Amino acid sequence: MKIALIGYGKMGKAIEEIAVSKGHEIVLKIDVSTTADFTKENIQKADVAIEFTGPHTAFENITKCIQWGVPVVSGSTGWLDNFEKAKKLCEEKKGCLIYASNYSIGVNLFFEINKQVAALMEPYENYDVTMTETHHTEKKDAPSGTAISLAEQILAAIGRKKKWVNESSRDASDLIIRSERIDPAPGTHTVSYDSAIDSIEITHTAHTRKGFASGALLAAEFANQKIGIFTMKDVLGL
Ligand SMILES: NC(=O)c1ccc[n+]([C@@H]2O[C@H](COP(=O)([O-])OP(=O)(O)OC[C@H]3O[C@@H](n4cnc5c(N)ncnc54)[C@H](OP(=O)(O)O)[C@@H]3O)[C@@H](O)[C@H]2O)c1
Repeated sequence: MKIALIGYGKMGKAIEEIAVSKGHEIVLKIDVSTTADFTKENIQKADVAIEFTGPHTAFENITKCIQWGVPVVSGSTGWLDNFEKAKKLCEEKKGCLIYASNYSIGVNLFFEINKQVAALMEPYENYDVTMTETHHTEKKDAPSGTAISLAEQILAAIGRKKKWVNESSRDASDLIIRSERIDPAPGTHTVSYDSAIDSIEITHTAHTRKGFASGALLAAEFANQKIGIFTMKDVLGL
């Protein structure tokens, strides 16, 4: 498969390493210094584009790929205010967009565990639920996209929580997400249920970026020749 890497930072480089070892070819690499190379002609040399840039440029990059008819797998976080627009464009153009706040297989299993634990805890009102996410200091958005996905699953299951907040709050209907930034930290997410008697915690800890990178590559293999909007759940058949 011919792959275009949009964003050649920590994730772009980790994806390149795995892609090349699996026999794929990287036909285009775009970062801040090479944005002029991001043209219709160049991107159309790729079967699929993998986009890991960041909150401010992701939507524009994704839009270009869809408009120019190249399936796009995006892992950039912090741009979801524009997700509906991207989805609409993708439907109009009969393109392919895969988005996941987290491409690691372990985190996608953790999402399913989170939903089941939240459903189990729903009737037990003496437990308060809070979340913590820890990432490296270069991360530009907070809370993490993964934390938002986990929070939305909890809000869907636990009626006494009405919205997530990324600050301290005395309102019992707020689901508090604490964000910690320390180095080195590829990513830890903990959901805690605390009562006066005991605590129950579920945690996912990423040890390396390889899990995100190999998941994104799996998604790119899935996206090749497909039409539609997909998530990692579709890729993994969960
Ligand atoms: N979904 C997931 O599984 C997952 C996993 C890890 C990370 N992420 C997310 O993926 C994104 C990237 O993470 P990272 O760790 O790879 O960050 P990073 O190391 O900062 O890399 C970002 C790359 O994007 C480039 N870039 C910035 N603006 C650009 C533009 N306009 N056009 C093209 N390239 C541009 C940067 O270039 P310069 O270096 O020249 O500025 C850099 O090479 C973040 O939003 C992060 O939260 C998602």
